[in-house]
Amino acid sequence: MKLNGYLKSLVIGTIALALPLTAQANPIVIKFSHVVAQHTPKGQAAEYFKKLAEERTKGRVKIEVYPNSQLFKDKEEMEALQMGSVQMLAPSLAKFGPLGLKEFEVFDLPFIFDNYAELHKVTQGPVGAKLLHKLESKGLMGLAYWDNGFKVMSANKPLKEPGDFRGLKMRIQSSKVLDSEMRSVGAMPQVMAFSEVYQALQTGVVDGTENPPSNLYTQKMHEVQKYVTLSNHGYLGYAVLVNKKFWMGLPADIRTILDGCMKDATKFANDIAQKDNEEALAAVKKSGRSQLITLTPQQKEAWKKAMDKAHKENMSRIGADVVKEVYKETGYKP
Ligand code: LMR
Repeated sequence: MKLNGYLKSLVIGTIALALPLTAQANPIVIKFSHVVAQHTPKGQAAEYFKKLAEERTKGRVKIEVYPNSQLFKDKEEMEALQMGSVQMLAPSLAKFGPLGLKEFEVFDLPFIFDNYAELHKVTQGPVGAKLLHKLESKGLMGLAYWDNGFKVMSANKPLKEPGDFRGLKMRIQSSKVLDSEMRSVGAMPQVMAFSEVYQALQTGVVDGTENPPSNLYTQKMHEVQKYVTLSNHGYLGYAVLVNKKFWMGLPADIRTILDGCMKDATKFANDIAQKDNEEALAAVKKSGRSQLITLTPQQKEAWKKAMDKAHKENMSRIGADVVKEVYKETGYKP
């Protein structure tokens, strides 16, 4: 009897402890939509943010993460955020041009960052903060920058010299800088939603593409591309966006907790990104499906020289002041 009583109180105690986490009557729901696989830097960081937010608000906030374009594709998700059908996104910085925020295309300029340390001078410094501030004119707020990584170039022919691109149809994200980058080496760029790339490569609608290894591998692009050039010619990363009206309408204590969760999730994202890409590249290599190509210093220099055209062509589109501020941080020299 005595044991029964003890067990009963143990059960009741356990339920009581679990209650705040599970039985909030009307939790605030944040739908977080993104286009990549769960096992990518962004996918994992979104899950980590969910975990922290639900734990720390004791269930007052519920984060629903929708990966892999399940809910919305690239262009649709921006509209959905502005209309309030989703509350949080982390689009690639290369997808802000169509919103009218061309300044973000500075991140797409070829060879502008040599490594993560140079990039972080911008994303974690005053220039990055100034850019995020511009989102407010569109009814959005930028909470953080999350890293992915440096892009490789893939195709069914080896891409070593700039001339090797001639006539190839290359899928790009919706950035005019990327359009210039591809044209600078004689390719024909084609904007396409991320969710459609695998099939487009498989069926030959496009011949090649660029992405960090984590995206290439998790979308199985390496299975339909014979060659992957380890060019690291450009950066792909994200800004975490919320609808400003929604965010500012949250109870202040909740918003403070969520800001803390975002800070920690950002550190998590930026800590795992490089390793995740290295692992993805190792997995591509191990699969034996595509051959990895390393550029000689001369070949890399030739890419850089050719692609500098994308800098010149987009200087006024992005804003010479922004470009120069970034050059100053990273030491880019044409
Ligand atoms: C792409 O469209 O290639 C990327 O922006 C996908 C992503 O979100 O990393």
